[in-house]
Amino acid sequence: MKIGRASRTAQAAAAIRANHYLYANNPVFSDPYALHMTSPAWQAVLSNRFLIKSLNSKIANHAFGLLTAQVVARSRFAEDLLKQAIQKGIHQYVLIGAGLDSFTLRLAKQYSQIKIYEVDHPDTQALKIKILSQLGDIPDNVEFVPIDFEQEQLSDALQRSHYDSGQAGFFSWLGTTHYLSPQTTLNTLQDIAILAAAKSELVLDYSIHYQDLTGIERLGTFAVSQFTHLLSEPIIGAFNTWQLHDTVQRMGYQIIDDLSGQEITQRYFHQRVDGIQHTQATHLLHLITA
Ligand SMILES: C[S@@+](CC[C@H](N)C(=O)[O-])C[C@H]1O[C@@H](n2cnc3c(N)ncnc32)[C@H](O)[C@@H]1O
Repeated sequence: MKIGRASRTAQAAAAIRANHYLYANNPVFSDPYALHMTSPAWQAVLSNRFLIKSLNSKIANHAFGLLTAQVVARSRFAEDLLKQAIQKGIHQYVLIGAGLDSFTLRLAKQYSQIKIYEVDHPDTQALKIKILSQLGDIPDNVEFVPIDFEQEQLSDALQRSHYDSGQAGFFSWLGTTHYLSPQTTLNTLQDIAILAAAKSELVLDYSIHYQDLTGIERLGTFAVSQFTHLLSEPIIGAFNTWQLHDTVQRMGYQIIDDLSGQEITQRYFHQRVDGIQHTQATHLLHLITA
């Protein structure tokens, strides 16, 4: 990401959640704070009736719906699993690359028994803290941990916080590995495998290698990568599923689930009238530490 500036893709993701919450029937993920979290420019787009009608038309949903599905499905998947993990007794939630995710506003008070660690680039985090403070008091169970993944390890950053590595934690890492070099992602996965106590859980999404895609998905991936170049946050991280599985298993993780685009569509977007479907270009991965 561009140094000295909050993440533009985090603002775009919040705008996508806002659009889905405000204008979709039967939203897959409901984020009533997303509109307040995104940038004024996106807020202007979201209040332009003509633009919104065109963006949410069935035809446009064949293209933009792929992006929407990616953004809302990853949050739904992570929070469904987080709730199960809390019931199992996990009481630490680490949002890696938290961006403008509004969990802190939506659910931090309700889940007052858990400690929430928002880990993000300091430039994005500064904007987030400013927005959260404008919207009300930041709950006591939330702690902000700045990091630049390209410079520092997660374990070092968490050591500066109250994170208790003697206890299991739930880590979500959404919409971020795409913007990191594959080696940085693998180093962070290795780092989590070492720092996290047994039975810790990790949910992340990752991009599939361009060469492993075909037809419209190849073209779509190219279009998204051009868009992210424009936002100065190019997509540089992609994986081959089998190689990634092999690598994480050798790190000691147990793979609980790896949902392909088709499986995500089947689970969350089956027979939606708005025609939104998940792309084949990203997967959702659920891992548990040994
Ligand atoms: C697309 S946003 C995703 C935000 C959020 N998880 C979501 O799902 O909306 C990407 C996030 O990755 C973070 N990020 C990108 N490069 C980073 C780096 N080198 N170090 C730390 N965070 C980084 C950005 O600050 C941003 O919050």
